[in-house]
Amino acid sequence: MSSYVRAVRLINFRNYADATALFSPGLNIVVGDNAQGKTNLLEAISFATTGSSPRTPNDSEVVRWGADFARTEMRVSLDESDGSEERKVAVGYAPGQKKRLTVDGAPASSLASYAAGGTGVRAVTFFPDDIRIVKGAPSDRREFLDTLLSSLRPSYARAVAEYAKAVQQRNQLLRRIRDGFSSEKTLSTWDRKVMELGSEVLRGREAAAEPLNALFGTSVRTLYGPEKAALRYSHSAPLDGYAEALTEAREADIERGTTSVGPHRDDFAVLFGGVSMTTYGSQGQQRLSTLALKFAAREYLRGETGEDPVLLFDDVMSELDEERRGYLSGYFLESTQAVITTTNLEYFDEEVLERARVVRISGGALSRPTRDGAKG
Ligand SMILES: Nc1ncnc2c1ncn2[C@@H]1O[C@H](COP(=O)(O)OP(=O)(O)OP(=O)(O)O)[C@@H](O)[C@H]1O
Ligand SMILES: [Mg+2]
Repeated sequence: MSSYVRAVRLINFRNYADATALFSPGLNIVVGDNAQGKTNLLEAISFATTGSSPRTPNDSEVVRWGADFARTEMRVSLDESDGSEERKVAVGYAPGQKKRLTVDGAPASSLASYAAGGTGVRAVTFFPDDIRIVKGAPSDRREFLDTLLSSLRPSYARAVAEYAKAVQQRNQLLRRIRDGFSSEKTLSTWDRKVMELGSEVLRGREAAAEPLNALFGTSVRTLYGPEKAALRYSHSAPLDGYAEALTEAREADIERGTTSVGPHRDDFAVLFGGVSMTTYGSQGQQRLSTLALKFAAREYLRGETGEDPVLLFDDVMSELDEERRGYLSGYFLESTQAVITTTNLEYFDEEVLERARVVRISGGALSRPTRDGAKG
């Protein structure tokens, strides 16, 4: 049985002063009116799980207005069979200071290792804004892949970060060469460095591309219909032609002052029946393909780690028809753990509500039970 989140405490996190939410295995439904703190709660669980916000790269945004730090504490159940094994993790952040991550009271060795399973759980998140993975720029799609693979392995997260730095430094050098301040000879050192790190990123992505494509196809069939759906990775240079492509592009790169080949220029196409959902998808198709990507991510993590990740899905029921809402309810009930938010409990059947834990939010305060039949 996979790990799950037992409890999360939020201190000065967004609109929460100090609140604790308890969760059950299976489906947890967080209900509340607009602007009460539903999205913030999911963000906090993700923050506690990975050490970073999935919504912003700027940590100071999560600090409650007027407060000088934010903190999340989380209790993770590592073994459901006897319920004895538990891990306690915490993230503390004060603007201007280094983030403090602890696992059972001891400092985590790095953010990358904390995020890649160090807490005992991994999470797959869905926020309405994630539709940009399908609709948005190639960088949004690369970020989806990199976040997924970083949650799998700390070495991937490090390679991605160091690769980005190496490309920036190579670009600076390219411009100095172009402007006559450096000689072209100095470039080969950076080429090697860029290629070494870029190859590591490419290896991770290439290993994931085919499984994700297959899992995406299955998810679209269950969520959407018989359409033949696919993810197709497009390289600026494949792994086995990387060195040649980088050398070939050298003159043009110097002229432009940027590095034109490598994983930072790659993309993937999201296809329904061969048609790009990025270019031609309807709002509903783009939303469903985003969901299918998240389901594929979950299955991929499960296959790679043997553990079912926790699902944190924000406002996922709205905009879906009744049949799909019913399907999703079943999907969440059967998962190890899902925490989902809604403004409206009427999206759920009576039997679903009976099997779920319902948490009510009002103005950054949490309460339960809230209705007859909701499980204690
Ligand atoms: N750093 C912060 N400090 C205090 N309050 C904040 C902070 N960041 C956001 N908020 C506020 O928290 C409130 C709740 O936001 P949240 O996005 O969680 O609402 P929600 O319940 O998801 O609403 P909706 O149903 O509209 O999506 C908002 O009014 C927002 O302005
Ligand atoms: Mg919200």
